Amino acid sequence: MSCATGSKELISHTAEFLLKNKPWLVLTGAGVSTESGIPDFRSPGSGLWQRYDPMEVLSTDTLFRDPETFYRVGFYILRQFKHARPNLSHYLLAEWEKRGLVHTLVTQNIDSLHTISGSQRVLEIHGHLRTAHCMRCEKTVPLDRVEKEVDGGEIPPKCQCGGVLRPDVVLFGDLLPSCFEEAMEFARRMPLLVIGSSLQVSPANFIPFAAHQVVIVNIGVTPFDARSDYVLNGKASEILRGLNEEMKKQQPTV
Ligand code: APR
Repeated sequence: MSCATGSKELISHTAEFLLKNKPWLVLTGAGVSTESGIPDFRSPGSGLWQRYDPMEVLSTDTLFRDPETFYRVGFYILRQFKHARPNLSHYLLAEWEKRGLVHTLVTQNIDSLHTISGSQRVLEIHGHLRTAHCMRCEKTVPLDRVEKEVDGGEIPPKCQCGGVLRPDVVLFGDLLPSCFEEAMEFARRMPLLVIGSSLQVSPANFIPFAAHQVVIVNIGVTPFDARSDYVLNGKASEILRGLNEEMKKQQPTV
């Protein structure tokens, strides 16, 4: 089924479906953070990858071959994400976890906004911007230290052991952390609610294929729409607010 945001009937049916099949796994993408002022990657006209080539600025190849470009351009892009604050979607997802509606939240986002807004069980399959590690001795340091070194002209930033420091985000060319396998396992066991992702990037977009039931909340179309049980097109905060009100109406005790 699919519809535009305004369809109260679809919000009501989706809320009924979600209540009947709780708890769910949630998969979020950059679209859940655009209302916090962080641009997403592929929205026509505003997406970051309309302006930069990710393979050129945020890949492991660039980190090793051209650390100047990596730290001057790619790292600069990432640092913009650090100052955003959670929006209504983040807070509702944290509340839904407390109410036993969300089992676990898998995010492709590196902005930590789900953790900051109170979600406890968060799988950051593309890493995060809180720390960096040395590629020689593997020591972990706060990302602020790397920012200070880069701002002071130390490129690439170095560890005391002389090794190069790199942020703990998953770059193009990296393998995903082990929490990706955990996410796939959860997807096999419960319905999946996808919010704010174009589902263009693998292996994150394998997750919906593992799920038996899928609900998508997104402004744009995704390659998975036709296979989903419900597709609600529109702004995440508006749709999640609508679902929240409808779920409270249908089951006030949840
Ligand atoms: N509400 C709902 N959907 C939104 C909103 C919003 N407020 N804002 C944007 N969107 C939708 C867009 O229409 C788009 O389909 O969110 C989707 C974001 O898609 P992408 O920009 O491709 O982001 P994402 O799916 O998270 O990208 C996955 O690609 O470059 C890598 O590592 C990067 O984690 C990222 C991965």
